[in-house]
Amino acid sequence: MNKTVLAAIIVVIAMLGFTYAAVEMTGGVDKLMKGGDWVNMLAILGAVILVIVTSFVVTKYVRQMQNDTATGKLADENWDGIGEYKNELPFGWAVIFLGSIVWAMWYFLAGYPVNAYSQIGEYNADVAVHDAKFEAEHKNMDAETLKEMGGSVFIVQCAPCHGLTADGIDGKAANLTHRLEEKSVKHVINNGANNFKTDYPGGMPPMLLQDPAQIDAVAKYVASGFKADDTAGKAAFLAGTCNTCHGENGEGMPSVAPKINGWEAAMVATVLKDGKKGAIGAMPAFNNLTEVQVKALGAYVTDLSK
Ligand code: HEC
Ligand code: HEC
Repeated sequence: MNKTVLAAIIVVIAMLGFTYAAVEMTGGVDKLMKGGDWVNMLAILGAVILVIVTSFVVTKYVRQMQNDTATGKLADENWDGIGEYKNELPFGWAVIFLGSIVWAMWYFLAGYPVNAYSQIGEYNADVAVHDAKFEAEHKNMDAETLKEMGGSVFIVQCAPCHGLTADGIDGKAANLTHRLEEKSVKHVINNGANNFKTDYPGGMPPMLLQDPAQIDAVAKYVASGFKADDTAGKAAFLAGTCNTCHGENGEGMPSVAPKINGWEAAMVATVLKDGKKGAIGAMPAFNNLTEVQVKALGAYVTDLSK
């Protein structure tokens, strides 16, 4: 018998031995059979067949390398006497090569992301189910419970910047017990603003007022809550055409300009949707909150300044 064939048979026997030993170590063939676990038995059978086929295929090629003499037409180039045959591109190989490129593109773009199981996807689906349950459960809350819920969301999400009492922690964030500060009003007059692109897409143009005395007057008027006896402030408010967008007393106009004479739940929702950059700093958008949570925060913040 040929030496290579003998070696192949030895490899087969050795690998079958290892496989058997591995099965014995994890409970034994008996146990596998007793459970009627034919799937596992089939897998083992498959492995055995694979080992045998591999050994014989390898043997065939090793022998071919030992004995084969090449035929065909040599290419013109050669490297130190080592030449190359002009072989046709094997048809099957070319088809598989092109096929796998197309398949890889499909897999990358659509196959994997669309169809695969993903832990993040499962997590998101779970969260969505939980959120829907939460929304349904808290749909018809009375005002008091809504405020309470707002308070607890606030402690977790907002207090790190705005402080437990919502006073803004010495100017680190806006003081929410008060609608606006003078410096914030001045900041928007001088720079304009277009933070709230979703609810007020037009934004506010800068430099409606340029006289520093008028700017001071209107800032004090707005920040102190539109006091009727502040005639200078009121005059500056009208001179700056502020009323045309914000309304006579800063009550706001839907889609045109926000309410600036106090809080309302809708304004809190607006800020959460787009975030805000202003005189005090930057407030990030909060798009991870549920509808009920936003409503609750609106109720809570509106109540703070009462
Ligand atoms: C063309 C309409 C328009 C006019 C006129 C206008 N505003 Fe505004 N104002 C807006 C809009 C829109 C916003 C929201 C800006 C944003 O998206 O960040 C705004 C925002 C503000 C804010 C900030 C509110 C907040 O909570 O961030 C203040 C304060 C303000 N305006 C005061 C004034 C004053 C004072 C005047 C007059 C000098 C004035 N506005 C004139 C449209 C206007
Ligand atoms: C990372 C810090 C940070 C967090 C967290 C944060 N804010 Fe703010 N917030 C700010 C800053 C800074 C401002 C002031 C922006 C300005 O006017 O310059 C602000 C401003 C505001 C305003 C006033 C916007 C106006 O019109 O003047 C509201 C309302 C508000 N935040 C609500 C919230 C709520 C509700 C939460 C919790 C869901 C929250 N913020 C979480 C930093 C934060």
